[in-house]
Amino acid sequence: MDELKKHYANGWDIQTVKTGDEIDLGGKTLRFYEAPMLHWPESMFTYYVEKEVLLPNDAFGQHYATEKRFADEVDQNILWKEAEKYYANILWPLSSMVQRKIEEVIKLGLPIKMIAPSHGLIWRKNPLEIVTKYLAWAKGERTSNKVVIAWDTMWQSTTKLARAIAEGVESEGITPLVMLIPHSDRSDIMGELLEAKGILVGSPTLHNDILPTLAPILSDFEVLKPKGKKAAAFGSYGWGGGAVKRIQESIERGKMEIVMEPFTVKWVPTDEELKGAFEFGRAFAKAVK
Ligand SMILES: Cc1cc2nc3c(=O)[nH]c(=O)nc-3n(C[C@H](O)[C@H](O)[C@H](O)COP(=O)(O)O)c2cc1C
Repeated sequence: MDELKKHYANGWDIQTVKTGDEIDLGGKTLRFYEAPMLHWPESMFTYYVEKEVLLPNDAFGQHYATEKRFADEVDQNILWKEAEKYYANILWPLSSMVQRKIEEVIKLGLPIKMIAPSHGLIWRKNPLEIVTKYLAWAKGERTSNKVVIAWDTMWQSTTKLARAIAEGVESEGITPLVMLIPHSDRSDIMGELLEAKGILVGSPTLHNDILPTLAPILSDFEVLKPKGKKAAAFGSYGWGGGAVKRIQESIERGKMEIVMEPFTVKWVPTDEELKGAFEFGRAFAKAVK
């Protein structure tokens, strides 16, 4: 209420609705269900009774701009990647509330022919598929067999480690998704992590710390809290090191689980050290299986 007034129309006659209230728009009934923190405090689901359409506000959306209107009209791979990315970057930290609200809505047993979120495409073919997915994401269940490897480098030593680690992960039958941080949008990295078994994060040391390009990813760990994901750090350094310690701090603040000691090498890795990196990747893959 306060928000509407501050943004738009101080002086309008605004009526606040609560769960169960209905408005009849002349044969078109809108029924309201409060859904606080999905994902703003005043969020509500609106149910268009006669047409059995759920308008869930910010839930079930995607930041996906296309000339199409319905989810079944677009490339399904892009659609689901966008839905994952949206959940990871907007709703992940609110997962316990998402789970509670969805279970509540399912119990209501409302017939739902269509779900029209405020962002992105409308779900009309099997609309409950996205609801089931949200429940799985909220509970931390995932179906994919991949591990994300995200890193940056100045002079390629950390890249050499990342490649050897990726081969080690792959040798255990798990897909390594290699994402060089300057070439990957931070929201894509978090989107991929949603369905991944875990993440390996690498940086060389610069002034006792990470490369600055890692800062947005570490910030995302801390605020989005990918609870329960398994993680570890790696990187090259010259003398005192420091990057992996900083990475581990953010992993812990993000409520992820550090399953391995960090893997570090001084300067350019030797063949022997690259074998060590391969084994590190392999051990990580075993730990997340
Ligand atoms: C500007 C600058 C600052 C650095 N600061 C540190 C440091 O504080 N501690 C350290 O151990 N190494 C430091 N290094 C060394 C790098 O971590 C080292 O060269 C490393 O092998 C680079 O890895 P990369 O090839 O993946 O970029 C620094 C290097 C540069 C260029």
